[in-house]
Amino acid sequence: MARYKIAWLPGDGIGVDVMDAARIVLDTLKLDAEYIHGDIGWEFWSREGNPLPDRTIDLIKKTDCALFGAITSLPKQEAEAALIPQLQGKGLVYSSPIVRMRQEFNLRTNLRPCKAYPGNPLNYKEGIDIVVFRENTEDLYSGVEFFPFPDEVRNAVKKHNKKMARFDHHPADEIAVSLRINTKTGCRNIITDAFEYARSTGRKSVTVVEKPNVIRETSGLMIRTAREVAGNYPGIQLWETNIDAMCMWLIKNPLDYSVLVTSNMFGDIISDLCAQLVGGLGFACSGNIGDKTAVFEPTHGSAPKYAGQYKVNPMAMLLSVKMMLDWLDETDMGERLEDAIAAVVKEGRVRTYDMGGSNSTLDVANAVADRL
Ligand code: NAI
Ligand code: MG
Repeated sequence: MARYKIAWLPGDGIGVDVMDAARIVLDTLKLDAEYIHGDIGWEFWSREGNPLPDRTIDLIKKTDCALFGAITSLPKQEAEAALIPQLQGKGLVYSSPIVRMRQEFNLRTNLRPCKAYPGNPLNYKEGIDIVVFRENTEDLYSGVEFFPFPDEVRNAVKKHNKKMARFDHHPADEIAVSLRINTKTGCRNIITDAFEYARSTGRKSVTVVEKPNVIRETSGLMIRTAREVAGNYPGIQLWETNIDAMCMWLIKNPLDYSVLVTSNMFGDIISDLCAQLVGGLGFACSGNIGDKTAVFEPTHGSAPKYAGQYKVNPMAMLLSVKMMLDWLDETDMGERLEDAIAAVVKEGRVRTYDMGGSNSTLDVANAVADRL
């Protein structure tokens, strides 16, 4: 029996292309794993009304972790129109499989390393090495939303907060409300993960990125918790920066920052900004990590216009594989893979279109495999 069981979730579009690239590298590394295919994505929405069928949830429960390509998701009307006739008009609602996996398996930490590999022509600056910790299950993405805004909820809110009265003259069907829900546990977990990471990798600072001067309660909870947690890590500095200012500082002085920690939506935004500093979607890897399992994925989507053409950059996927190896405690393999990726980037002979080359997805994977 293989040592590891890994749920293999290519999904849609270029998800399939980059997963093929991942397999070349994993086979060359000879990871002792069984890769078990799982159904996920648009096809299963269309045919079954569920882009993440229960059998795939069961598969993830039975495996050590999952490697995921990408999915396609489209707005409400298009999603409804894509259903087979038998499923139309039944009130089925599309919900994003990745968001569902995060909630179902409490994948509470979204980890996004953003490193400028030397010689990458897409680097904004050489030497950038930022790791973003994004809380992954709460905040504005909790899904507790109202439209139209029910009178009972409005009245209850008014009873507790008089600022609500300012919206009195807007009818229920002209107000949309999304709750930003942050818990002490959520804040503590993500901040502790960030500090633990800083400690184990010898990093000197953790920057908490919020907006507590305006969003006093939720961002305030993050900052207060960060100060508490930081007390347990004497050698590591805690810096506090507002999300808006952070977007400027990251462009101005990206080398100043090391570990960033933030809530879900700010993390979504800032991690895309950081990814663009080190090569963009072709390099943006991620891990969705919980206590029991984890799902590793490149952060790009299914890029339908390139689907099946094997043109896109597999580096984001290969770096996600490296993260998976580290999470499995196969750190030697993880390091070998990262060295091979860095060597291929530096050498610059084999590059996909986004890096100015004309090689295929699989050419890049084979070049990395040759280096291993
Ligand atoms: P996308 O990330 O799929 O692609 C946008 C553009 O970025 C592509 O057209 C391509 O020019 C470039 N790109 C993406 N990945 C690349 C790579 N590996 N190498 C080189 N260039 C790359 O985003 P888009 O077009 O907004 O969304 C397409 C579909 O993907 C939508 O249905 C969207 O909902 C879904 N999506 C899924 C995600 C996921 O599975 N986690 C994340 C983001 C979008
Ligand atoms: Mg995003």
